[in-house]
Amino acid sequence: MRYKISKFDIFLVVALCPLAVLGFDTPTMGWSSWNTYRVNINDSLICHQADALVETGLKNAGYNHINIDDGYFGGRDEATGMLKFHPVRFPNGLKPVMDHIHSLGLKAGIYSDAGANTCGSFWDNDTIARNVGLLGHEINDCQLFFIELGFDFIKVDYCGADGNQNKQLYYYEPAERYAAIARAIAETGRDDVRMNVCRWAFPGTWVRDVATSWRTTTDINPSWESVRNIIAENLYLSAYAGNGHYNDMDMLEVGRGMKPEEDRTHFAMWCMMSSPLLIGCDLTTLSPETLELISNPELIALNQDALGLQSYVAKTDGTTYVLVKDVERRDSTTRAVALYNPTDFVRRISVGLDEIQLAGNASVRDLINRRNVGNISDALSVDVPPHGTGIYLLKGECRRMRKLYEAECAFLSRYQELYNPGYVGSAYYAPRVGASGGMVVRNVGLTPSNDIIWNNVRVDDDGTYTVSFKVFGDRPAEIMVYANDGVGIKLPIKGNPDGEIVNAQLQLTKGNNVIRIAARDKAPDIDYMTIIP
Ligand code: GAL
Repeated sequence: MRYKISKFDIFLVVALCPLAVLGFDTPTMGWSSWNTYRVNINDSLICHQADALVETGLKNAGYNHINIDDGYFGGRDEATGMLKFHPVRFPNGLKPVMDHIHSLGLKAGIYSDAGANTCGSFWDNDTIARNVGLLGHEINDCQLFFIELGFDFIKVDYCGADGNQNKQLYYYEPAERYAAIARAIAETGRDDVRMNVCRWAFPGTWVRDVATSWRTTTDINPSWESVRNIIAENLYLSAYAGNGHYNDMDMLEVGRGMKPEEDRTHFAMWCMMSSPLLIGCDLTTLSPETLELISNPELIALNQDALGLQSYVAKTDGTTYVLVKDVERRDSTTRAVALYNPTDFVRRISVGLDEIQLAGNASVRDLINRRNVGNISDALSVDVPPHGTGIYLLKGECRRMRKLYEAECAFLSRYQELYNPGYVGSAYYAPRVGASGGMVVRNVGLTPSNDIIWNNVRVDDDGTYTVSFKVFGDRPAEIMVYANDGVGIKLPIKGNPDGEIVNAQLQLTKGNNVIRIAARDKAPDIDYMTIIP
């Protein structure tokens, strides 16, 4: 009998192989040694954690990496410069450990530094780890890691290239260092290695060209303050994530002493914000609650959604936040919504369906508690406990055109968090009293590339639209507005510190549009854009 491909087969392929279909990776999932063990790791410990990842069912839930962080180094051979492994912690080197990880059907990750020394040699007194970083050893070390040993992932730290964290006071330019390392990985011939940039802040939009993920903050620790601060620092970075490249909110501290509500917020928001999910606790002593939370298939599906989108802030009163993202298909009637309450009090958080571009009757599913909570036709309103979060999947009847686009959620081509934006000429988002969402984008202009771009402006029909911008300025200025590949339209700004609205008539096409603002001189603060057919 000939086997015929059925609709169900196609459904399976589409549902189970999002990577093959869309051609990019979803956020990395797995376990990493650092949070619990710091540099005190060894071969049997890593192998036991790998075994536990399989035995607990976490591998089946999607966690497929075992990442060895700092602590395995044993200096370099003086004659050959070859990297050595720690004589006590890894007396037989890394190969047997690697083979064990791979034999379980898992991928393996390794750690190094963009400079000469590692962070552990500086901060954890792991003196044997001096001069073991990638600086000057890019080609040989990459050959060792990815060809001889067969690692699949590398986290590249930065202590050795940041003069505050190395004894030699060496400072290097991160874009150059990481590009050199990316080239060395490419030279091994492998195109499937994932690189994580660990520069402890959003380093610049160049990072998308070299890495699959990048840390956006300093190190996480198992406290509510830490989790809250990391979420705060990632709220307005969604435009930089996607297509296989993600903001890394750091390894998970779930199961390491925070309150249950805080653990839930931590895990759920990492899922909503498309962060890599690297478990950081001891997998051999997981509590049932921790295992259940980090195995939640509906939250994991949100994180591993084939669109690979990070949620953006749809609404805030300055203390609580509503975040939203499309899942499965862009601009469809299904959207994921987070109601996030970082305050110390119970807060009622509400969002109208119109504020998230849905209409009609919408079914609501609670993804954290995995239950249907009924239908709504106007607004979702929930009493959210202190430090708590509700994550809901809404399926409405219609999808409406979005009319308001905040500037702080847009793509800033020169955005970076390493240098003073005034010196290097990079736009950034900043709080401003009286601004919609409490935020504006500041410092656009002066260089043509220092622009602001709304990349996903969807309209229902071809036509001319009135596109308005709310700006705050203190002197006359001029901005240029571009729609798609069209010619720029010059908009004069009077300069009003209380805010003013300027309009442009733009030709937009049905479906997706790109709208961009640039300025010859410094642009006023940009608050938001509205689109009226
Ligand atoms: C830090 C990094 C941590 C960990 C540590 C190792 O710089 O942010 O995640 O890798 O170094 O020493």
